[in-house]
Amino acid sequence: MENELAGWNPFKRKSAAIATPRAESAPPIVKPLVREAHRRAADRSGLPRFNTTASDQFSGRDSDRFGAVRAKLRNAFTPSQPVANRRLFAGRDDVLKTVIRSIEDQRLHVVLYGERGIGKTSLLHVLTQAATEARYIVVYTSCGANSNFDETFRAVANDIPLLFHSGFSPTATEAERGSSLADLLPAEPLSPRKFGDLCAKLTGTRVLVILDEFDRAGSAAFRRDVAELIKNLSDRLCRVQLVLAGVAADLTELVEHIPSIRRNIFALRVPKMSEHEVLQIVSNGEREADLTFEPDASASVVTVARGSPYLANLLCHHASHSALDDNRNKVMPVDVTRAVGFAVNEFEARVPKPARAHVRRLFDQGRAETMALASRAALANDGVFTAVDLTTANDVTARKAEEIIAALFADGLIKVAYPDDADDRFAFVEEGLPALIWMTWAQRNLEPAAPRATSRAATAS
Ligand SMILES: Nc1ncnc2c1ncn2[C@@H]1O[C@H](COP(=O)(O)OP(=O)(O)O)[C@@H](O)[C@H]1O
Ligand SMILES: [Mg+2]
Repeated sequence: MENELAGWNPFKRKSAAIATPRAESAPPIVKPLVREAHRRAADRSGLPRFNTTASDQFSGRDSDRFGAVRAKLRNAFTPSQPVANRRLFAGRDDVLKTVIRSIEDQRLHVVLYGERGIGKTSLLHVLTQAATEARYIVVYTSCGANSNFDETFRAVANDIPLLFHSGFSPTATEAERGSSLADLLPAEPLSPRKFGDLCAKLTGTRVLVILDEFDRAGSAAFRRDVAELIKNLSDRLCRVQLVLAGVAADLTELVEHIPSIRRNIFALRVPKMSEHEVLQIVSNGEREADLTFEPDASASVVTVARGSPYLANLLCHHASHSALDDNRNKVMPVDVTRAVGFAVNEFEARVPKPARAHVRRLFDQGRAETMALASRAALANDGVFTAVDLTTANDVTARKAEEIIAALFADGLIKVAYPDDADDRFAFVEEGLPALIWMTWAQRNLEPAAPRATSRAATAS
């Protein structure tokens, strides 16, 4: 044995085999294996491939008879992307109307806030289209951790043609050459005052500057400068308005810099979707992808999504694929149950292992309903909830709400959200827990075989 292995070097042998595959010289038993390896190397058709080309043409190579439906599904339900297409944008009429009125009639600057996934960016896309139709110049910027005033507003100035500057007549050569306001900016870092000065000279157009993900901008100086700019633009009746989107904390922070800008801002919290709006997401997708949801399946989506357009898209996406995998283009309640299973897996990955294990133990110890009720309150209130929120979200008595809070506190699952404040606001110890608990609970309560799975889910509230 030792002799046989003398001089054996697996790495050397392996690389030689890869470099010069010579089946003839291999011992007889290896020959078929080598031949098989060659055959596979020559014929890799078994490997997964893309079904649509980069120009969105369906390749038709897929043997799946629903290949075309699958291709259409990609646009129908988009859990990982905001909606940009009006055809797929569900509901939100009131929000959009209110925002447009504030911009148009009151000339206010707008702050849109709300939890992640509630639909802020999608709303901004549709607002952009509406404003562009009304010939506004719209400049959309997604803020990042390193956003700074100079860079952000130079880019904005770059999108505003010089011909709208009152100092230039439309026939002036600079305007004809396609110059922009950016050409008038000084070399030194741009200040809110300087940018405001330029904006004050605009005529014949209106500009909307959209700063999305404002919460990601880490620099306090950037936030202060933006607040300063809002004040400057408002005081001088400029034709430039800002729309900021982010989470609630940013609004207070922004306004705190200069309390007097409060009256120049219209702040709106993007609400949860109504059941009707969630159903519209389902029906828009049905139309787009050429498949149908059984009424009970749509009802399950509504029950589980709880007004979140993100969850609605995620569930519809997985449920539709589940149906196609079973060779159906009709989505049934069982598909939604499977979709919830996928969602549970996805949410589990977002929660640290110990917290996950803790929750699983509590589920097994019969704490399911207590946790589910609290997670509904958390989901309805951006993660932070009071006993009153618990009663409102679940229609339970104040006493029951107190009991739930006490129990989960003792379980180490929730904490006081703001220990320095006098009021008792609570939050789960991990941000991802409410969604995970809610989905796990839904998974255990949606019986695939029961004809009215949703009413069962609803009664537990
Ligand atoms: N009005 C809507 N109609 C259909 N889907 C929506 C709508 N608003 C949001 N969505 C979906 O919800 C998810 C989150 O939307 P997004 O606009 O990115 O939220 P946010 O910017 O608040 O995080 C995305 O999957 C998006 O496709
Ligand atoms: Mg967004």
